[in-house]
Amino acid sequence: MPSHGHAKIPQHVAIIMDGNGRWAKQRGLPRLEGHRRGVEAVRTTMNAARELGIRYITLYAFSVENWKRPQEEVGGLMGLLELYLKKELSTFVRDGVRFRTIGRIDDMPAGVRRLLRETEAATKHFTEWNFILALNYGAQTEAADAARAYAAAVRDGQEKLEDASWERFHRYLYTADLPDPDLLIRTSGELRISNFLLLQLAYAEMVFTPTLWPDFGKAELKAAIDEYAKRERRYGRTTEQIKAGTK
Ligand code: IPE
Ligand code: IPE
Ligand code: MG
Repeated sequence: MPSHGHAKIPQHVAIIMDGNGRWAKQRGLPRLEGHRRGVEAVRTTMNAARELGIRYITLYAFSVENWKRPQEEVGGLMGLLELYLKKELSTFVRDGVRFRTIGRIDDMPAGVRRLLRETEAATKHFTEWNFILALNYGAQTEAADAARAYAAAVRDGQEKLEDASWERFHRYLYTADLPDPDLLIRTSGELRISNFLLLQLAYAEMVFTPTLWPDFGKAELKAAIDEYAKRERRYGRTTEQIKAGTK
């Protein structure tokens, strides 16, 4: 079991931020207004996560499948992302937050890509707080990218085919140097994973809430953590073994 100050505070929380569109629709507003309010919820949640002592937070912001949305919405989302990154860099530096991305960043618009690289570079020396944004992310794409990189390493003699294992394969995932999420939260009442971190969520606890993402905040995060704290993580063992503290 991972041991840190408060054993019941997850080290890594991953969130599928869903429901921006429905939030806007309920109010007769354009979908983009929902996304705008969603960015506010990101700020609130980030601050709440640090206050609660959550060291890693990964947010699913744009999936490989989301390119299928109307061009106007995709463009609006990219614009919001640029605006957010420009505004937030100084906050990350002030608060000591390391910013990273997972996903096929090379296929993001050039302006966004430049800002992402800049933000990553400016915060790379921070270690305490980690903010990971999943952009143009898909778990199946990640697996394919990792398999290709692993195969290339075998071809180039850096890996041996007979040593192939999960541990070695893991080093080629986007998340190679990140701990697996302890807790997954999905907002908006949908009960699915939507191609998010399929391998890394192997033993994550999951909390689904009907709250739409723009309405998510500290109270909702706290409620999810309280739910997480009640769960017994057994990793295949028995309750008796867990109680006895068997490693
Ligand atoms: C989540 O909200 C944000 C993104 C996927 C970018 P949605 O836009 O999916 O909101 P709903 O599901 O249509 O309500
Ligand atoms: C998942 O939400 C992707 C993100 C939150 C970025 P979607 O709204 O795209 O998921 P589906 O299509 O309802 O499964
Ligand atoms: Mg959705």
